[in-house]
Amino acid sequence: MTAQLIDGRAVAASVHERVRLGIAERLAAGLRAPALATILVGDDPASHVYVRNKRTTCEKVGIRSVPVQFGADVTQAELIGQVDRLNADPEIDGILVQLPLPPQIDATLVTERIRADKDVDGFHPYNIGRLAQRLPTLRSCTPYGVIELLRSVQEPFKGRRAVVVGASNHVGRPMALELLLAGATTTVCHRFTADLGAEVARADIVVVAVGKPGLIKGEWIKPGATVIDVGMNRLADGRLVGDCEFDVARQRAAFITPVPGGVGPMTVAMLMLNTLQAAALHD
Ligand code: GUN
Repeated sequence: MTAQLIDGRAVAASVHERVRLGIAERLAAGLRAPALATILVGDDPASHVYVRNKRTTCEKVGIRSVPVQFGADVTQAELIGQVDRLNADPEIDGILVQLPLPPQIDATLVTERIRADKDVDGFHPYNIGRLAQRLPTLRSCTPYGVIELLRSVQEPFKGRRAVVVGASNHVGRPMALELLLAGATTTVCHRFTADLGAEVARADIVVVAVGKPGLIKGEWIKPGATVIDVGMNRLADGRLVGDCEFDVARQRAAFITPVPGGVGPMTVAMLMLNTLQAAALHD
């Protein structure tokens, strides 16, 4: 069996189109375009690339992009002050503070300072708590994007065994809540899991988000499973790879995401959708 690739760029493009249509409807009804403020701190090259991508995608779909920039020496008080001003601004629908932040900043404090109804990253404990209670409002972008990818290949969820590898606050944990909400029987594996291979081998759906190339052996994959690789690792030779041995896994799985071009484009697409949804909360 050779797996069908799940084309994240194509699914993301369809989400962009939904957002464009939603904005056109708002404008036709006399409402303003949604606005997203992106706060970038310091000069981490990867963060600059990610934030530039978010800002240009905003412009492409019709969201007003409000860029905010700070040097790496910004104080906690300055950053919190900026979040407070954006929280109070009735023309701003979404606020995103790009992570990681420099060591003098308490990222948890900043994340929790963002008004929950402007938290388009879906990182605020209120939004994670709503998801845990099966009442999702603004949903964490990467897990939400993974669900969208799975729906694009008619994943039934109910009666299926899902294994999430990685228990991070921003991906693994909300991913498990999303899969549970969708109806899958869900297991979360992490660094203390006794036999990772045995857990993965039982899974109909494998979602891996760790950041270790080759962690998931291709031969662990159950024949006919669906593999979603959130990992994004740069090898010494410059190649970009996920966490799963792609070539072997591809010979066993029914569906698999490539890296790049799988989950990556979905995170930004769902951010756009969340910003449109946040705007509806502010009409
Ligand atoms: N850093 C890496 N990914 C993300 C993301 O999705 N949101 C934010 N705010 N920071 C990030």
